[in-house]
Amino acid sequence: DAPETLQERPPVVTVMGHVDHGKTSLLDAIRRTNVTATEAGGITQHIGAYQVKVKNRKITFLDTPGHEAFTAMRARGAQATDIAILVVAADDGVMPQTVEAINHAKAAGVPIVVAINKIDRPDANPDRVKQQLTEYGLVPEEWGGDTIMVPVSALKKEGLNELLEMTLLTADMMELKANPNRPARGIVIEAQLDKGRGPVATMLVQKGTLKVGDNLVAGAVYGRVRALFDDKGERVKSAEPSMPVEVLGLSELPQAGDIFQVVEDEKLARQIATLRQEERRQEELKAAGK
Ligand code: GTP
Ligand code: NA
Ligand code: MG
Repeated sequence: DAPETLQERPPVVTVMGHVDHGKTSLLDAIRRTNVTATEAGGITQHIGAYQVKVKNRKITFLDTPGHEAFTAMRARGAQATDIAILVVAADDGVMPQTVEAINHAKAAGVPIVVAINKIDRPDANPDRVKQQLTEYGLVPEEWGGDTIMVPVSALKKEGLNELLEMTLLTADMMELKANPNRPARGIVIEAQLDKGRGPVATMLVQKGTLKVGDNLVAGAVYGRVRALFDDKGERVKSAEPSMPVEVLGLSELPQAGDIFQVVEDEKLARQIATLRQEERRQEELKAAGK
């Protein structure tokens, strides 16, 4: 086996927060800012996860509508996220789903960077938001605490660079590393049946490098990687740690939050998948019996 060579990997960031506080707008704004800064053409979003480049470094964003995916992953014991960006609208303030998001992130031991959004609004009150957040243990640095809070406007594209820089700073303190020289392992972000292509799974590689031709097990399904596509929908031959990738070649649909791993051959992949299917059936029977 190749020696364990740990290399720096990009942080994986999930944007969370109350409904309509601007999660999607913020992600859109970040993506566009990044596109105009670094790329000539436009990026077409093909999968619910993507990477942006900030000063030669990458950040992986998971575009999870609400935090259902986050919950599903935690329920399966998988942790996809290194950092949570908590979006709080400066006019609305802390709302029930804000609190839920804080609890999710805390339970998972994930550091929170707060984005106080919609500061362009006439009724915006960032200080009130900060005050409210202290009640949940999030005290801003400028008040002697250790939570980074960045005022932003997704609409006016203000504060975005600072938010990205603060996210990278948080990542720096975490020493995020992975060995790219080993069989890949990671998490299924989402999966859907495509009429022409069959089961298509968006996966986040966490360790190793996923390659075309690899045999893999994802939760209770198996397959052989037929093709890989990056977040721009472009065909790639491999995917390294922290890279989100669309995977074709699975026998059936895995579930969000399922762990995937590359195994030596198809026979082994099928055996493990069959075993897991049986396990899940037993679990379901047990749950139904309660
Ligand atoms: P859900 O996914 O439905 O939970 O909402 P979300 O958090 O993704 O919010 P979304 O991006 O859909 O934004 C909700 C509304 O707020 C939209 O009408 C946005 O245009 C508006 N909005 C988002 N960001 C800003 C901002 O910075 N300033 C202002 N004024 N409006 C914003
Ligand atoms: Na919305
Ligand atoms: Mg949204």
